[in-house]
Amino acid sequence: MADGVTDMTGSASDLLVELPEDLRLIQQTARDFAEREVAPRALELDQTGQFPHESMKKMAELGFLGLLIPEEYGGSAIGNVGLSIILEEINRACASTGVTLSVHNSLASSPIARFGTDALKQKYLPRMATGELLGAYAITEPGAGSDAAAISTTIRKESGKYIINGRKAWITNGGEADVLIIFATLDKSLRSKGICAFVVEKDFPGFQVGKKEEKLGIKASNCVQLVFEEMEIPEENLLGEEGKGFIVAMDTLDGGRIGIAAQAVGIARACLDASLKYSKERTQFDKPISKFQAIQWKLANMAMEMDASRLLMYRAAILRDRGQAHTLESSMAKLFASEMANRAAREAVQIHGGWGYCKEFHVERYYRDAKITEIYEGTSEIQRIVISRELLNR
Ligand code: CAA
Repeated sequence: MADGVTDMTGSASDLLVELPEDLRLIQQTARDFAEREVAPRALELDQTGQFPHESMKKMAELGFLGLLIPEEYGGSAIGNVGLSIILEEINRACASTGVTLSVHNSLASSPIARFGTDALKQKYLPRMATGELLGAYAITEPGAGSDAAAISTTIRKESGKYIINGRKAWITNGGEADVLIIFATLDKSLRSKGICAFVVEKDFPGFQVGKKEEKLGIKASNCVQLVFEEMEIPEENLLGEEGKGFIVAMDTLDGGRIGIAAQAVGIARACLDASLKYSKERTQFDKPISKFQAIQWKLANMAMEMDASRLLMYRAAILRDRGQAHTLESSMAKLFASEMANRAAREAVQIHGGWGYCKEFHVERYYRDAKITEIYEGTSEIQRIVISRELLNR
């Protein structure tokens, strides 16, 4: 018997702080949808690596693709708290679907909404809100991961166009996206001060999708290399100012990291719910294993750490929605939640014993899916650098 991923009864999230009515409605909608549409597909997507087209289409119908897009451009502008709530629910069911949604909202549509000209917003946001256009964000390169300012994709300006050459790596949604936020440099020696951000369409001449990565987890999330060969970008697709693209990149990641915190909380909740259920059902030494303190302590730690992560996530999201500084809070939420999710997944596998190591029980997938939360959108090591810099510079 599988571990009841769709059974939300007595879900650990019900122990939480009460949300305002509108957010509770959003949560319920997302939870129902995740239970009905996302969870039943998760195992198959994990096995086949197929992109979650169907769920994305349905989430577009629910308005989940325009959560950070202002209403005047066709979105719902629900904001980062609402987005986090939705992402927790979707990720609880399927982390591949969750990150696809997170990247589209927080890494692709959000920077256009925050830094784009009215013309750029008009051109892209309404169609991103409806799901006609899927978004991605491309900063990382084979030689520039944690050191994001070291990118070597270059730009030159020629007769009213930017011409770009270079290669990007590990780009989530990259092979499926219609619109991508990409970063390139005017002069690598300028580091962050030479970087420009652009809105790029997959049909721009010179844009190519390269190798698709085979991953440990989030197998249905599309992750590819991108190659730009003399790719032409219209001047008006510059996002923000020339040479200020690194600020666009960092500000966007301040938001995206809240989404990864939500993903981690969602995975942890799936781990806890599965562990609560299994430990009550599994009998050893003539009693359910939930009667043993060794198991009870694991469950207690999982619940406590998950709740703490969610509160850090809410704090960061509230600050971002209010337009207040939140770099430190986003990094703390992402760091704490991602490490917590990995501990939760490890304990969930341990509680499930041999079954935890087999694919019939979803905790095996949660264990593999959790790992990436400590890596993408800034590794745990980078989050500690961001947090300590913020503390020391205040
Ligand atoms: N908001 C706005 N501006 C910011 C900022 C922020 N959060 N953080 C830095 N900046 C500005 C700084 O103020 C500075 O501007 P000035 O020069 O005008 O003062 C400029 O950016 C350069 O900042 P730093 O000197 O701090 O830059 P750095 O080279 O030391 O790097 C870093 C900082 C935090 C390590 C950064 O490189 C970083 O975040 N690295 C990790 C990269 C990352 O997270 N990649 C994830 C890729 S996307 C992804 O993973 C998506 C996915 O698959 C799902």
